Amino acid sequence: MQSILKKLPVHSGNTAISMAVLFVLLLSSCKKDDTDDAQQYKVFLPSNFPAPTYDLTQNPVTKAGFELGRKLFYDPILSRDSTIACGDCHISFSAFIHPDHTTSHGIDGLFGRRNALPVQNLIWQSSYFWDGGVGQMDLIPLNAITNAVEMDEDPVRVVAKLNRHPQYPALFKAAFAGQDTVSGTKMLQALSQFMAMLVSANSRYDHYVRHEPDGILSALEINGLDVFQQKCASCHATDLFTDMRYRNNGILSDFTLDQGRHEVSTLPEDIGKFRVPSLRNVAITGPYMHNGKIKTLESVLEHYASGVKDSPTLDPLLKQNGQLGIPLTTEEKQALLVFLQTLTDQTFIQDERFRQ
Ligand code: HEC
Ligand code: HEC
Repeated sequence: MQSILKKLPVHSGNTAISMAVLFVLLLSSCKKDDTDDAQQYKVFLPSNFPAPTYDLTQNPVTKAGFELGRKLFYDPILSRDSTIACGDCHISFSAFIHPDHTTSHGIDGLFGRRNALPVQNLIWQSSYFWDGGVGQMDLIPLNAITNAVEMDEDPVRVVAKLNRHPQYPALFKAAFAGQDTVSGTKMLQALSQFMAMLVSANSRYDHYVRHEPDGILSALEINGLDVFQQKCASCHATDLFTDMRYRNNGILSDFTLDQGRHEVSTLPEDIGKFRVPSLRNVAITGPYMHNGKIKTLESVLEHYASGVKDSPTLDPLLKQNGQLGIPLTTEEKQALLVFLQTLTDQTFIQDERFRQ
């Protein structure tokens, strides 16, 4: 609107005509905005989730922006030697983790230290990565692009490559009106538009808690939900299944290889603490934990029941009355396993819009 007003011819003494011109321009510009609105994508905001933390009004998702973001997500051009795309480590049919990989596998065949995280429900988070090392969703790709064992590229070079590309300049122009050249900011915004759409909240559990017509869980599944609420939900809290805090759940007792939150905060009490991960789609996002050391959900439950390792920063919830871990009977484990399966969101992992 402002740019249109600036372009208005201002002829003194010809106010009536100017006003008429202004009116027509306003009308046509409103019309244009309406059309743009129609091109906007609605981000699914489930009623059982809190308000998002990401301000979608600052970067509204449009069809063109989302499609550009998707193209970038699946394009290895973002890596140094054009061999690795975001989508190589974050695979849609497994809720965007890297199946069969304990830790991620990036450029030059190098392995990282950490297990890839799912890319889902990001707009409700306020920090990212296992240690919360990234505080803004828009900045996530910079971390992956520059990481020496992931894409090992300089974002300035990525922008130069995109500007030389036969298609990207036109796609950026379509997604961000008036933008003739590709800029780093717009690249990040497009990737965020794609990632903002990756909302997973259509599991059988969701239908159940939202009282939708098909929202039925079996007696065993409900039993599992009860056990979960008693024994797991203090950390895997709310319908996001995480309290977003950093905790040590006793996977290791020595954190020399990866100190977790401590690497960001430098506080001694943060050694070995990792962000409590969401358990959405957990049945299909194995292997588990920051180091991918646990292969199955059965083994995860064994870990909590009898494998918790003590260390100075172990979460007090896992060491009550001097006893390590969470007591779980065989029946409780069975019910929990059945319940955790209800968190798989088939609509999300099968959504064609999210594929390459
Ligand atoms: C080589 C594999 C690899 C590549 C390539 C890769 N990632 Fe990741 N991604 C990971 C790993 C591993 C983590 C966890 C890192 C950590 O916690 O330190 C992660 C974490 C993330 C997260 C954090 C999710 C959360 O809940 O905190 C997002 C989002 C993400 N990546 C998006 C991207 C995007 C966008 C790209 C491309 C620009 C990309 N990734 C490229 C492996 C990869
Ligand atoms: C004291 C807090 C706490 C409690 C209680 C807790 N968890 Fe966790 N959980 C965590 C943390 C922290 C991690 C990540 C640890 C890591 O990777 O080092 C985690 C990881 C997991 C993972 C791996 C997820 C992934 O994507 O890698 C599963 C599955 C899991 N927990 C299930 C459960 C279940 C089931 C219960 C109840 C029996 C439970 N948790 C109780 C804190 C907790």
